[in-house]
Amino acid sequence: MMIEPKVRGFICTTAHPDGCKEHVRRQMEYVKQNGSMPGPKKVLVIGCSSGYGLATRIAAAYGCGASTLGVMFERPASEKRTASAGYYNTAAFEKYAKADGLYAKTINADAFSAQVKQQVIAQIKEDLGQVDMVVYSLAAPKRTAPDGVTYSSVLKTTGEPFTNKTMDLKTNQVTDVTIPAATDEEVAATVKVMGGEDWMDWMEALSAGEVLAPGALTLAYSYIGPALTHPVYDQGSIGMAKHHLYQTAGEITRRFADKGIKAYISVNKALVTQASAAIPIVPLYISILYKVMKEKGLHEGCIEQMDRLFREKLPAGPVVDEKNRIRLDDYELREDVQAKVMDAWQHIRTENAGEYADVDGYWEDFYHIFGFGFDGVDYSRDVPLV
Ligand code: NAI
Repeated sequence: MMIEPKVRGFICTTAHPDGCKEHVRRQMEYVKQNGSMPGPKKVLVIGCSSGYGLATRIAAAYGCGASTLGVMFERPASEKRTASAGYYNTAAFEKYAKADGLYAKTINADAFSAQVKQQVIAQIKEDLGQVDMVVYSLAAPKRTAPDGVTYSSVLKTTGEPFTNKTMDLKTNQVTDVTIPAATDEEVAATVKVMGGEDWMDWMEALSAGEVLAPGALTLAYSYIGPALTHPVYDQGSIGMAKHHLYQTAGEITRRFADKGIKAYISVNKALVTQASAAIPIVPLYISILYKVMKEKGLHEGCIEQMDRLFREKLPAGPVVDEKNRIRLDDYELREDVQAKVMDAWQHIRTENAGEYADVDGYWEDFYHIFGFGFDGVDYSRDVPLV
């Protein structure tokens, strides 16, 4: 069938295999053009199929020549429905990597499950022996924890409800939104899903399975952003989970000190991904940020960020701030960038949105995530679904 985008709010329910392939190819080409670099050689990426995790995998493979084992949770195609974008991305990545002589395998299953952790360990033993890097890049709405309870995360504030501008993704209108405050229970559940507990479980399991190379590095990703987004992010329910993730980084480093294993948080730039599109206020902030950063020649997407991580931040130490965090949000949080963003935030309304925000750039990235909107892809092609 001919596949078209079907957008429902902040999600697109279809994905295009050829466009996803093109998205992966462009990211690979970007890294290849920058040339090879030293880095890890055997990398496990948990949450490898889209956004930052996919870009990490591509940068490690095509920049450092790494073998990559991925874990993802993606939907294959059925007779009536396309596969999810992450499924197509991964099929394309594996195909390219194999053709280029790079090991790439992926386990499509729930990363939160203890059984899947054992499956990954068995695969590492069989194919790689050990891994020298573990990247934890999950963005999930819920988690069934080892206690058998399923926890759901929420995107709410903590304390008081918070009202600010947002972009209505159905109409592109700038409107006000009030984000309700999470209950203590909701915050605790969000920490269970997006905090560091499962990252620690992974490291414990990998260590017990003897598949972590001595001195291995492990990374997880976070976001801080400017004060404007703090009520919904850094000081919101998701922020509480991220604070737990920071603590866990320290705990992992201490826990596995005898093996020289070090854990870091990389604080990344706000970008359009499936995960970030769901957060109120953030899409409007991102549209303004894109406009300002593009004008200043500072704009980066996931692959530019992850290439810079491996090329500049990791080999030199890593380069960290006073709280031991890698800062890939350094350009985003530059004073001149944020001054312009804040000015635009004050003035933006539906009528002048094009003047202050890169709404088209937002939507271009959004469609690209699902494999739509790429020049050179024949979208009129009849694609067999299965
Ligand atoms: P994404 O939605 O593009 O990717 C999420 C990945 O997690 C996918 O590979 C998906 O298959 C996988 N996944 C979800 N549930 C799973 C499960 N149960 N088992 C196995 N795999 C599962 O998300 P994005 O935005 O790349 O986020 C990754 C990390 O980066 C998150 O920790 C997020 O908070 C962080 N981050 C994102 C920023 C953004 O602006 N998008 C900014 C800074 C950090």
